[in-house]
Amino acid sequence: MRTMPRAVFPTLLLLLLLLSVLGASQACLPDPASAYRFTGAVCRLTYPAAVVLNEKTTKVIEAAFQHARYPSMGGEKSLLFIGRVIYGLDNLEVHNLSIGRSEFELHPGEGIGMEITNVSAVFKGTIQYGYGSWLVNVKHSIDFEIESQIDLGINPKLYCGDGKVAADTSDCYLNFHKLRLHLQGDKEPNWLKRLFTDFITFTVKMAIKGQICKEINKLANILADFIQETAEHFLTDGDISVNIAITGPPVITANYIESYHKGLTNYNNTSAVINDSVFHPSQLNENKMLYFWLSDQVLNPLLTAAHKDGRFQLNISGAELTELFKTNLSSVMPECIRKCLLESASPELRVWSSSVPYLNISTLGMTVLVKASGQFHCGSQGTPTILFETDVDLVVTASYADKKLFLQGNPSKVSVIQPELLSQNQLLLNETQLEFLKEAVEKIGIPKVLSVLEVELTRLLDKQGVNLFDIFNPEVLPRDGFVVISMDFGFPHHLLVEFLKKTLQ
Ligand SMILES: *[C@@H]1O[C@H](CO)[C@@H](O)[C@H](O)[C@H]1NC(C)=O
Ligand SMILES: *[C@@H]1O[C@H](CO)[C@@H](O)[C@H](O)[C@H]1NC(C)=O
Ligand SMILES: *[C@@H]1O[C@H](CO)[C@@H](O)[C@H](O)[C@H]1NC(C)=O
Ligand SMILES: *[C@@H]1O[C@H](CO)[C@@H](O)[C@H](O)[C@H]1NC(C)=O
Ligand SMILES: *[C@@H]1O[C@H](CO)[C@@H](O)[C@H](O)[C@H]1NC(C)=O
Ligand SMILES: *[C@@H]1O[C@H](CO)[C@@H](O)[C@H](O)[C@H]1NC(C)=O
Ligand SMILES: *[C@@H]1O[C@H](CO)[C@@H](O)[C@H](O)[C@H]1NC(C)=O
Ligand SMILES: *[C@@H]1O[C@H](CO)[C@@H](O)[C@H](O)[C@H]1NC(C)=O
Ligand SMILES: *[C@@H]1O[C@H](CO)[C@@H](O)[C@H](O)[C@H]1NC(C)=O
Repeated sequence: MRTMPRAVFPTLLLLLLLLSVLGASQACLPDPASAYRFTGAVCRLTYPAAVVLNEKTTKVIEAAFQHARYPSMGGEKSLLFIGRVIYGLDNLEVHNLSIGRSEFELHPGEGIGMEITNVSAVFKGTIQYGYGSWLVNVKHSIDFEIESQIDLGINPKLYCGDGKVAADTSDCYLNFHKLRLHLQGDKEPNWLKRLFTDFITFTVKMAIKGQICKEINKLANILADFIQETAEHFLTDGDISVNIAITGPPVITANYIESYHKGLTNYNNTSAVINDSVFHPSQLNENKMLYFWLSDQVLNPLLTAAHKDGRFQLNISGAELTELFKTNLSSVMPECIRKCLLESASPELRVWSSSVPYLNISTLGMTVLVKASGQFHCGSQGTPTILFETDVDLVVTASYADKKLFLQGNPSKVSVIQPELLSQNQLLLNETQLEFLKEAVEKIGIPKVLSVLEVELTRLLDKQGVNLFDIFNPEVLPRDGFVVISMDFGFPHHLLVEFLKKTLQ
């Protein structure tokens, strides 16, 4: 059984796993350095990750060959003694395709070089032909097979098009090592065979070359759109969305491909602004497969939107609530709470964020500052018996293991503000009773809220397919004003299969 270390991993941040490509309609700045200032999120894909992705390239190339539509081709030729020969090539199909090897290089400042060698395929089709003088017209049809062995080279260039990372695969070439024609039945005269051999060798080469490169270009675009749609969907939940259009052209070095994104939360017709980002490429390493750089300027608007959207609310009632308060606390439970929990038919506790949570990321950790309100409801009348507010500073660490998100909170400050409104009997809590509430917040409330968040966030991530990725050695490094998330991964084969299925039906 494979075990994954429970490395630190931040809340919510897996959301940006598919960050690499996303569309929006705004031009980006011409050079990366001037774009840094507007960059809220960065994705660095290193050479080892590209190796894993390249392993899947052959599947896409296979699909390109198999799904290319080869047009009918034809021509005519005048021959001595025979006259005009008119010929046409129809129903070209690919059979028994196999791909030998696929290799790639990162060309700094330029693009990616890919070599797919030893593609062998059998093309099958029908030749129609007619010949003779204007008096005698002979029409024939003959089936043929062409055995071929081809090397394929593609040099995709990445650029900044329409606010997204786009790939231009027009630099595409095919070298034929072998192109051997077999005609079905051997009844044809020799001159005709020679004619077909010449004609087909040339025509088929041209046709295959054009169509395969065209198909690869098409597939590359479909794949980019597919990833983009997946990412767009991934980063949208209800009314909250994140604009991850790019701020500058992607950078390619010998060791990595890096893209720069805005990371602007959109909610209720307002969009966040980032114009003084502290990003610099030296803040990222090169030894893991994938790096995400995220500034607190991305995360705070996200938390604000979630707060305004009423996402931070929790109701606990009945036996679940009673069970929670069996936790061993050192202070004595105030009588009014005890009564409420144990003597009412349907006790309920409602908790919600009552201030916009504030996240401060520093080398010391990720600290969340938040005010939360709580209400104990004891009867069925629905009047709050006890209403309290608490002020919490919490250092949060998260880990991702066995396809689950784990959260841990270490409170650095918990205070309970004296309740203002109380129940019918107008009871105010004294110091001892406030101490109980404070302890309950720290030992019952915070762990409960985090465990609910764990389940909810894991569910959200699973809904978006994160559980289908194999993630290894995830790690989080909080720094001053930003956080660096790194990981190794296995390419989700199912994603490719799903993509090819959808695309090629
Ligand atoms: C494809 O391969 C199979 C098995 O190797 C072989 O029987 C068949 O004849 C091949 N088809 C063509 C068109 O070469
Ligand atoms: C190419 O493939 C054929 C058959 O698949 C194999 O016999 C040959 O050794 C391969 N050549 C190279 C250079 O990989
Ligand atoms: C949305 O914005 C409008 C006006 O800008 C404001 O009145 C409303 O309260 C906002 N709604 C939420 C849920 O923040
Ligand atoms: C956002 O603005 C559009 C047009 O200005 C309006 O139709 C829509 O109701 C607004 N949405 C919200 C959530 O305020
Ligand atoms: C950054 O954006 C804020 C808010 O829109 C604005 O007040 C400020 O002037 C901007 N700063 C720069 C350097 O553009
Ligand atoms: C909690 O209960 C209140 C009152 O019944 C309700 O308005 C609110 O939507 C509930 N919140 C959740 C998260 O279930
Ligand atoms: C509760 O705490 C007290 C004192 O701290 C201890 O003696 C007791 O064993 C604890 N009970 C449980 C069930 O943990
Ligand atoms: C964030 O936390 C660091 C370290 O605790 C502190 O020095 C800094 O002032 C805090 N920043 C803000 C804006 O609260
Ligand atoms: C608070 O009230 C409880 C119950 O009435 C009592 O047992 C306790 O001694 C009081 N504490 C203080 C500090 O007054």
